[in-house]
Amino acid sequence: MPGFELFGEAEKAQVQDVLDSGVLMRYGFDGMRNGHWKAKELEKAVAERMQTKYAQVLSSGTAALTVALQAAGIGAGDEVIMPTFTFVASFESILAIGAIPVLVDIDDTLTLDPLAVEKAITTKTKVVMPVHMCGSMADLAALKAICETHDLLLLEDACQAIGGTYEGKPLGSYGDLGCFSFDFVKTITCGEGGALITNNENYYKNADHYSDHGHDHIGSDRGAESHPFLGYNYRISELNAAVGCAQVQRLDEFLQIQKQHYTILRDALTGIEGVRFRRVPDGGVENYSFLNFFLPTEDIARKAHKALGESGVDVCFYWFDNNWHYYRKWQHLTNLNTLGKFPQEIIDGLPDYTISDFSNSDAWMGRTISSLVKLSWTKEEVKRRAKLLASVINAALKD
Ligand SMILES: Cc1ncc(COP(=O)(O)O)c(C=O)c1O
Repeated sequence: MPGFELFGEAEKAQVQDVLDSGVLMRYGFDGMRNGHWKAKELEKAVAERMQTKYAQVLSSGTAALTVALQAAGIGAGDEVIMPTFTFVASFESILAIGAIPVLVDIDDTLTLDPLAVEKAITTKTKVVMPVHMCGSMADLAALKAICETHDLLLLEDACQAIGGTYEGKPLGSYGDLGCFSFDFVKTITCGEGGALITNNENYYKNADHYSDHGHDHIGSDRGAESHPFLGYNYRISELNAAVGCAQVQRLDEFLQIQKQHYTILRDALTGIEGVRFRRVPDGGVENYSFLNFFLPTEDIARKAHKALGESGVDVCFYWFDNNWHYYRKWQHLTNLNTLGKFPQEIIDGLPDYTISDFSNSDAWMGRTISSLVKLSWTKEEVKRRAKLLASVINAALKD
């Protein structure tokens, strides 16, 4: 998903603006900054592009998730439902605020299965957090209906899916809160950075204050501001925000290239018996950052993945064995390996993941192959790649 592949003059000019003034911080120093407020500019652009009233830009996508949970008042002992297939940041952000990550099976959308979500709800559940992995979304209408019935918050992790849509709305804007990552390998990047979006003024104000030590941001004397509640530092720097100001303007250009490359790869696999594409729920449009498909068995998927590597078809992932993105390798969570003592609510409330049954997730993940879609490939390269991909998959299916 790398916006960094097309890092160019616009990004450099934005960074130079910041360097020329010497003000690298997003708040204060009004007289010195030559009128640049890059973080604020990026917030305005993100809110406009995502069609929400508010955006808060933060130091990372992980920070965005943590701040979003805090901003909505989630805390110690509250349960947050999340999928078995996601990046470790999902449970890190939940644990960071003393809440409990409740892992739930995925389905053929590769994110939360609404039936499994419904079964996992308890009196402690406060949030449902679908993660739009690899560019596509969960069945959001079903999840929203569940949240409405049980009075739960819908928090969309759209870190890997910026620019995708659901029922015509940008991903991240459909739920109560949505989060993006602008780390170095996302569709658009700040180097490091993230954002949360919402239409809820209270959540936004909380996020604005909480991410800057609880400062109320009233008036122009930072030292005289008061602190309505305790906060933390999740601020982005002006240098990182400056890169984002250039990249956000290029989001649609990047999405268009991703779609072209994705379509060539997908067309090459279409019609091969035994290949089934990941389900995109009705009303959903991917951001085309990955092409995901299932093969008939885990054994065939393993063989195909190995053969792809040997044939030089790089950036094809087999997530089932991945250390970062699938619950099977999250022993540090399962065993609650922590540096210091964790809140008692987590120790008492964390389900025993050593005995959990996620065989429904395994049935999908074990068969999944994902091809990353790069922006810097030429059309000829994509075509060559698509041909090779199809021939390796065909051979694996016949083996
Ligand atoms: C789905 C998902 N959520 C959250 C994050 C965290 O983002 P960051 O790296 O900006 O902290 C990532 C990053 O890879 C991600 O893929």
